[in-house]
Amino acid sequence: MSEARKILVTSALPYANGSIHLGHMLEYIQTDIWVRFQKMRGNQAVYVCADDAHGSAIMLRAEREGITSEQLIDGVRAEHMADFADFMVDFDNYHSTHSEENRELSSAIYLKLREAGHIATRPVTQYFDPEKQMFLADRFIKGTCPKCGTADQYGDNCEACGATYSPTELKDPKSAISGATPVLKESLHYFFKLPDFQQMLQQWTRSGTLQDSVANKLAEWLDAGLQEWDISRDAPYFGFEIPDAPGKYFYVWLDAPIGYMASFKNLCARRPELDFDAYWQQGSDAELYHFIGKDIVNFHALFWPAMLEGAGYRKPTALNVHGYLTVNGQKMSKSRGTFVKARTYLDHLDPEYLRYYYASKLGRGVDDLDLNLEDFVQKVNSDLVGKVVNIASRCAGFIHKGNNGLLVDANPAPELVEAFHSAAPSIAAAYEARDFGRAMREIMALADQANAWIADKAPWSLNKQEGKQDEVQAICALGVNLFRQLVIFLKPVLPKLAEAAEAFLNVAPLKWADHEQLLANHPLNPFNPLMTRIEPAKIEAMIEASKEDLAAANQPKGNGELTKDPLAAEINFDAFAAVDLRIALIEKCEFVEGADKLLRLSLDIGDEKRNVFSGIKSAYPDPSKLEGRLTLYVANLAPRKMKFGISEGMVLAAGPGGEEIYLLSPDSGAKPGQRVK
Ligand code: 2FM
Ligand code: ZN
Repeated sequence: MSEARKILVTSALPYANGSIHLGHMLEYIQTDIWVRFQKMRGNQAVYVCADDAHGSAIMLRAEREGITSEQLIDGVRAEHMADFADFMVDFDNYHSTHSEENRELSSAIYLKLREAGHIATRPVTQYFDPEKQMFLADRFIKGTCPKCGTADQYGDNCEACGATYSPTELKDPKSAISGATPVLKESLHYFFKLPDFQQMLQQWTRSGTLQDSVANKLAEWLDAGLQEWDISRDAPYFGFEIPDAPGKYFYVWLDAPIGYMASFKNLCARRPELDFDAYWQQGSDAELYHFIGKDIVNFHALFWPAMLEGAGYRKPTALNVHGYLTVNGQKMSKSRGTFVKARTYLDHLDPEYLRYYYASKLGRGVDDLDLNLEDFVQKVNSDLVGKVVNIASRCAGFIHKGNNGLLVDANPAPELVEAFHSAAPSIAAAYEARDFGRAMREIMALADQANAWIADKAPWSLNKQEGKQDEVQAICALGVNLFRQLVIFLKPVLPKLAEAAEAFLNVAPLKWADHEQLLANHPLNPFNPLMTRIEPAKIEAMIEASKEDLAAANQPKGNGELTKDPLAAEINFDAFAAVDLRIALIEKCEFVEGADKLLRLSLDIGDEKRNVFSGIKSAYPDPSKLEGRLTLYVANLAPRKMKFGISEGMVLAAGPGGEEIYLLSPDSGAKPGQRVK
């Protein structure tokens, strides 16, 4: 037998300031399936993770809630661990980046990089909040867009006109934390000299470590030339202080991936058979895989391998990059109730339904995966309940009633047994390649064959005939054996179903190699239903509850401090009546060349035509779909000169932004030009 592989596997570390949702679960479930498969094959696979606990967002949230950062991250970590455990994501260790192991490793790696000349320092001028006494990241500054004059825009780009700029260009900048006017201030920053690793990265990213589309993206970045990476943040910051640099902290993304090592190190202290150096030293024969989403490829394929190389450690064997989750074809949405937290799902549905559905749709690529809720119900009910579990429930009763639960030694369909046997290597290869969709299709094709054979033999009819009892027992014994094979193949995806099946089959935990033998002359335990159908009402309840989650999230938190509400100020009726609000017909709608976020709308407002630029492109990728639609329009807004022309007035839409912008519509019957009263 070939020697067991040593395999260390990680999933991205979730931030310790928010709940786990079904988008996160896509990653943890797929990693868990792969690790369980490796363990069933007899490999030494280790799966580590941790909460990503540092950064200013966590510090500020703790402050708002009136607790310490440590209290916040401890509470969130406990919540995350419970969610993962209930989805049967079986980490060997779940640590925190705010740990002693991580502090030591981060400092040691930094010092090795500094020693080797890969650290530079230089002053950086940035906005500083004089009230809060802290430097402000771009997302903590708001102001008026220097290009189009729209108020309340973030420090780096304007949602209305799509312009990008530096925070210092914003007009009337304000700290989003205190509301104070920020001042420019200089401070010394520490940089990791990423360009030192250009050649190594060029080679590493092309050495089979990355999926093709990911490697191509990286080639673009590498060709454009690498920049030094700012790895320091000034106090106050929740993180680790940089050695020999009082008041300077490691940027959260510096110590986050080191958290993979730290979690493994923490585990090594409990598991003597694991040797930290054997996994991490240069030239190690252990394999190292990071499962990540496509949004954090730069950190894992540029900074991280460069840090490892510069500090004398091995680099990852491969990155397994996946796409985003959509629900019913759209980005998860809080208002639609499709932004579902892991816990809300668990309150309504069996985690194995989702594990199976994700597995059935996962391939090797970085495409987004759509959780279509109708398809979800249909697929789970038809495949798992209708095909797999059905085989056992059709056969078990006859064995218990007709033969006291003793499964006989019989193989009445050798070709079928051979078909199962010979499918195993291909299913294993699909798992190994993370082509879980293909593995599930092959397994379900076997289940179809088994069901067709049992239906053809119809033991329920034979059982009514005189002298056919032996035949019934032989058919059902094989039926149960084929069910057992399917359970072995599905075990990485459905560990709970496998455990219940092992109890019914009266066998030790199944390993991959167990598919090579059939059970014979073997006593079974009583059969209990292994899985029930999804009731669509449960899905509706989950969606409703997710809308409730949203309502709860909108309540003031912790210390009760209310954020500023721009809608709170009252206006009198005259002010309202002064707005010329009308029904408009969108006659034409088109892209604006050179604008990322804008659409050009030609409106019919009854007595005249108007031309409006609207920042709604992200929600309406096909502008022609808006043509012929009625909407609400502010007709007496002063015309605004924009880079692309003059915008006359404004159409009305609601929603948080991005894909979630909803253009308002009147009821049917309304006519262009009618005034809103
Ligand atoms: O993007 C995120 O959610 C990060 N918390 C992932 C960190 S992964 C690793 F590098 F720590
Ligand atoms: Zn603008």
